[in-house]
Amino acid sequence: MRIILGVGGGIAAYKSAELARLLMDRGHAVQAVMTTASQEFLRPLTFAALTGRKVLTDLFAIESAIEHISVAQEHDLLVVAPATADLLAKLAHGIADDFLTTLYLAFTGPVVLAPAMNVNMWQHPATQANLETLERRGHLTVGPAEGYLACGMTGAGRLASPEEISERIELAIENRRDLEEETVLVTAGPTQEPLDPVRFISNRSSGRMGYALAEVAAARGARVILISGPVHLPQPRGVELIAVRTASEMHDKVFENLGPATIVIKSAAVADFHLSKVPEQKVKKTAARVSLELDPTPDILAELGRKKGDRLLIGFAAETQNLIQEARRKLESKNCDMVVANLVGTADTGFESEQNEVVLVTRTGETLPFSRAPKREIAGRIFDEIMKLRLAIHAADGR
Ligand code: CTP
Repeated sequence: MRIILGVGGGIAAYKSAELARLLMDRGHAVQAVMTTASQEFLRPLTFAALTGRKVLTDLFAIESAIEHISVAQEHDLLVVAPATADLLAKLAHGIADDFLTTLYLAFTGPVVLAPAMNVNMWQHPATQANLETLERRGHLTVGPAEGYLACGMTGAGRLASPEEISERIELAIENRRDLEEETVLVTAGPTQEPLDPVRFISNRSSGRMGYALAEVAAARGARVILISGPVHLPQPRGVELIAVRTASEMHDKVFENLGPATIVIKSAAVADFHLSKVPEQKVKKTAARVSLELDPTPDILAELGRKKGDRLLIGFAAETQNLIQEARRKLESKNCDMVVANLVGTADTGFESEQNEVVLVTRTGETLPFSRAPKREIAGRIFDEIMKLRLAIHAADGR
């Protein structure tokens, strides 16, 4: 995940340095944004050293006048810690007078707020009303904790511990429902192309990547139609499963169900060739050598590329060499918006493994390598990128 850490001006600002470290330990990339007031308590250099990135501070001292927009688009989650009374008020009312508050308005992902202030300021009806507004907007809050406060008073107002904030962030990531408006059509598994009533041609696909994509999409609120070749996996919860066997059956079911789909993901390893006239009886062992005349199966992805309309189309490329080059070629030739490419042939990733290591290439020209991780995690990251791609395409089309 790419996380923006907004640091407000409070005595607790030093604790957000620890939060930055915890988030990095969990594998997230952290971009710190400091308000002017927060720099009275902590220097940007602290965050720059911890995160390995330039800290964003002043709206007018940055390289581009629209940097707050691009930073908002390039990140997945915004956490504000400490969120001071002043910041809560500005966020609640949409006042955008510095980098952090401007970025907040341009940001469309989940927001986590960790308030910290004097107990009377916290209990003031103005602060409580602002908090209510922000919570109604769907933002998550964590803390404040009770205890001894820097002002000498005791009560609610302490910044929640960095551990607690980071737990809340993990929860926000898991509970995202950002696909509620989407209908996702996923194909998964291998196809089997019969040679006679008992034999078939197939491949080593286990279906795990496609099933993980279906599961994650359903968990994030999408309607999911999963068209699956023969696999040994349980039906994912909340998913409409359509079982098929051959490439031609998969083709027919894909186009029967294309209507409502807004995102189509072709993770199935479709057999490229089949026997067009399958003998009705089992073929007997008569000759010492047999040869098979095979015909190509319909290229479902290529046909989708021609008929996709406004839908986002994601193809897969399993390659043994020239990974990125091949993925780009498939992206272009099959009119995809994204191709998920993985090197197959290694034992610990690819077809039968629980893990995967992929590179995404996108229509917008990006090449994004994802290091080895469980297939569910990879699936989550693929959807993060799909949703970003949708925004980028809409922005480019002026829609
Ligand atoms: N695919 C498809 N229909 C087929 C063959 C493949 O829809 N008959 C889709 C797969 O679901 C995958 C993508 O095409 O999303 C790439 O599959 P792959 O077998 O890697 O590519 P091919 O088109 O077969 O290209 P090549 O043989 O040149 O590698």
